[in-house]
Amino acid sequence: MQSLEQINETKDYILTKIDVQPAVGLILGSGLGTLADEIEEAVVIPYTDIPNFAKSGAIGHANELVIGKLEGKVVVAMKGRFHYYEGFTMDEVTFPVRVMKALGIQQLIVTNACGAVNKDFKPGDLMLIEDHINLTGQNPLIGPNNDALGTRFPDMSNLYNDELRQLASEVAEKQGFGLQSGVYAWWSGPTYETPAEIRMIRTLGADAVGMSTVPEAIVARHSSMRVLGISCLTNMAAGILNQPLNHQEVIDVAAQVNKKFTGLIKGVVSAM
Ligand code: HPA
Repeated sequence: MQSLEQINETKDYILTKIDVQPAVGLILGSGLGTLADEIEEAVVIPYTDIPNFAKSGAIGHANELVIGKLEGKVVVAMKGRFHYYEGFTMDEVTFPVRVMKALGIQQLIVTNACGAVNKDFKPGDLMLIEDHINLTGQNPLIGPNNDALGTRFPDMSNLYNDELRQLASEVAEKQGFGLQSGVYAWWSGPTYETPAEIRMIRTLGADAVGMSTVPEAIVARHSSMRVLGISCLTNMAAGILNQPLNHQEVIDVAAQVNKKFTGLIKGVVSAM
């Protein structure tokens, strides 16, 4: 588990760059980072400048913390996240969430691009994460617990806050589109799943599959933050359509959904 000294060192560094009180944390998934361009009075800090942050290199991601106003609320947005499949430790993947909490943030919106396992979904749909299934055997809380950061055995029920999900549904409805809702399965990657694995994942009760989000959501719950999870379904998962998967499709579909996604997040942040 991350040390309070490191978390506070990073928090203090960020506080030297801003003179506002952050209210909402945002983690932007693959191809969804352009939302950060809508942030006003933005202070942009490259991860490479931030003490104790790891350095992300995934395609489709910038690597910057963008702090400023979205719909009048102060947000701390991660444009680019740290993935387990890149070789980062669970502490590195989830460190930014610890720092957000230390900055006083109580509400986290975590987003991702993922594959649709539920055959009723289609690429370009947005899905509210209702719950997750952790298929990796990894957990960011393994190791000695720091009681100052959270409890040893955190409850995972209603992790993806039902009030925030309700709010997001209402915002989407007002903006004239519907949201899918479902269970997100965390797959370590970097390989996509095999068709047999997708059949297994569907049998286990998941509607979508992706390579992120769950570690950050677990640490946010450990930190007693309210979490909203939004997935952009960029492709049908392996074996559903008779065609290969590729990362470019993920990025392209995420870009096409951008307007809807940005409108939704802005609407939700405004109403939070
Ligand atoms: N599987 C896992 N992760 C993903 C997918 C997928 O099909 N699409 C985007 N991220």
